[in-house]
Amino acid sequence: MIALLLHLLAAAPLIPQNAPIGQAGDRVKDPARDPLPDDPEQAAEVRRGYKIFLNTPRFARRYARSSLSCGSCHLNAGQKEGSMPLVGIASIFPDYNKRSGRPFTLEERIVG
Ligand code: HEC
Repeated sequence: MIALLLHLLAAAPLIPQNAPIGQAGDRVKDPARDPLPDDPEQAAEVRRGYKIFLNTPRFARRYARSSLSCGSCHLNAGQKEGSMPLVGIASIFPDYNKRSGRPFTLEERIVG
């Protein structure tokens, strides 16, 4: 998951908010067809993170509080403008968490 969010940092720009639904899906950076890191372990982690993102209950049950997946809310695999995109998000962590009154790692932010 984290590897996926890091990999997306280097990905193409966000999918425009006004992209027609039929075309938005084609613009999603998908590890099944787009370039991956050269390191085979990192590439495998990116593929795994992508699966978790789009089907959280199946591939990461402990992160799934319901039948929703990350991609249910962070649309187009977290790559769409105006739909809580997560592209580049890894670069802002650790970040101060107001509710907890302390810095949060990306992992803590996802779980909490
Ligand atoms: C029910 C909808 C929903 C689901 C499902 C969901 N999120 Fe979110 N996520 C949000 C909302 C809304 C926010 C922003 C509000 C907030 O800060 O709490 C957010 C914020 C985040 C942030 C912080 C972004 C920032 O700018 O600090 C990360 C990282 C994140 N989500 C990752 C995930 C991951 C990974 C999953 C799946 C394991 C997931 N989310 C599932 C709705 C969702």
